[in-house]
Amino acid sequence: MTAKREKQEEDVSSHRRSQHTLFDDRFSQMLPGDIWAHLAAQQIDPVLWATGGEFGYEDGFELFEDVGHLYELQLARLEFATIGDDKELFRRRAAYFKRVAGKLTDHVAFSSVKGKGQIGHSNQYLTHWFYPYKGKFHGQMVRALINFAGAREGDIVLDPFGGSGTTAVESALAGCDSVLVDINPALCTIAYIKHKCIFLPIDEVEQCVKLAYAPKYFQEFTSILGRKTKRFKIEGEHTSEQILSDFWEEFPSGIVKAMPYEVRNFLLLVFLHALSDKTYLCQTKKDKPLFEFFVQNLKDYIATIRGTNEVVRRCGIRRRKADVLCCSALNLPLEDGTVSCIVTSPPYSIAIDYVRNDLHMLEYLGVDASLLREHMVGLRGGGRKLVMYEDDMHRSLQEMARVVRDGGWVFIVLGDVVVNGKRTNFAQKILQWAPSVGFKEGFLIKRPILGGYARLRYEQIIFLRR
Ligand SMILES: C[S@@+](CC[C@H](N)C(=O)[O-])C[C@H]1O[C@@H](n2cnc3c(N)ncnc32)[C@H](O)[C@@H]1O
Repeated sequence: MTAKREKQEEDVSSHRRSQHTLFDDRFSQMLPGDIWAHLAAQQIDPVLWATGGEFGYEDGFELFEDVGHLYELQLARLEFATIGDDKELFRRRAAYFKRVAGKLTDHVAFSSVKGKGQIGHSNQYLTHWFYPYKGKFHGQMVRALINFAGAREGDIVLDPFGGSGTTAVESALAGCDSVLVDINPALCTIAYIKHKCIFLPIDEVEQCVKLAYAPKYFQEFTSILGRKTKRFKIEGEHTSEQILSDFWEEFPSGIVKAMPYEVRNFLLLVFLHALSDKTYLCQTKKDKPLFEFFVQNLKDYIATIRGTNEVVRRCGIRRRKADVLCCSALNLPLEDGTVSCIVTSPPYSIAIDYVRNDLHMLEYLGVDASLLREHMVGLRGGGRKLVMYEDDMHRSLQEMARVVRDGGWVFIVLGDVVVNGKRTNFAQKILQWAPSVGFKEGFLIKRPILGGYARLRYEQIIFLRR
């Protein structure tokens, strides 16, 4: 590790522990209003607090108006602590700041390309909303963590439980390459396409895709609905390119298959999104024929690609590499110490059945759902699921410690779901295991889940330094 990086890490650690830290656990229980009241009572300006006392509103620094939760303020402070010295870099990469040194941040532009279900500036902007995967984490939070880790242009960010690809999108926005791993081949294809869509030229889409032909595209996609082939192997290691090439090889010839690779992948994602909408909205007031979901999503996706192109151009975001690999987080295909940082969200214990949630998509793409279940953390293990989950989490932590560089950060986002009537506390277990697998520092911050979903009260963001 270079002396500069070592110094930077020391600064960050002491920064975090300094006065008025708001990192005291009792503050995590507070609602946003109470936090602001507390800050006001102490005469602490939140912007000043987030910049470690260096800059306030009058210096041209401003947080987004929806930054209210304690964990958001904490993340704002952490991202500033590492890269705030270089104001222009910070302006381009900051996730929680609206203005830096009097100029609007690039996140203002990112979050202006609004996606379905977007909450403020936190999620679903740009291509994040493509495919409504139920276990997504927030893009804004992911980028703040990448910033705090000090990942620089060209560094590799890893997500070993990559899901629908939030980390790949945010790494690209931060100027980093990424490696995503997921055991589910269907999610690998989604993550891969979603990342590619950030850089998909709108001209190419508009040249190839005509709304007048939507019935024809739809007919070609639906022609393979219900076929029973189980074409994807779960064992071993496969790239997303291999998975997609198998899919397209068996796809019937027609106008979709004749399109350029990236455009037909884009259309596949639109179709999978429609399948998901149909599955989740049937028997609700929003239900409609699958074709109507397809056409609506097609129009909305095209609008997002147009907006994304414009923002990518305006903010000078360069095309970045994302390798999306279908294999297990328990056996990562990476050399020791090769990634700069890890941002990930593993399955939340055994309580969420990710396979059942995505059955429509797994069947369409020809993934053997029962075979997948046998390899999934949290779902495998039959009657010993919870014991197996604990073993798997320990194993995956060892793998993360092995592949991250010395001094690098690992961030694990984990929900405290209720299992058999008891709230799980795997975050604490991870903190306890951390020293024995090679981490030198560890702490966590809490993210409250509002909205009365009783099985989940908090997500914990676990910080571990190698
Ligand atoms: C909470 S989700 C991650 C969601 C992701 N952060 C996103 O924003 O879309 C957990 C993921 O872990 C994956 N997973 C489960 N077992 C795995 C294993 N053995 N190896 C790699 N990934 C696994 C699941 O397929 C699922 O996508």
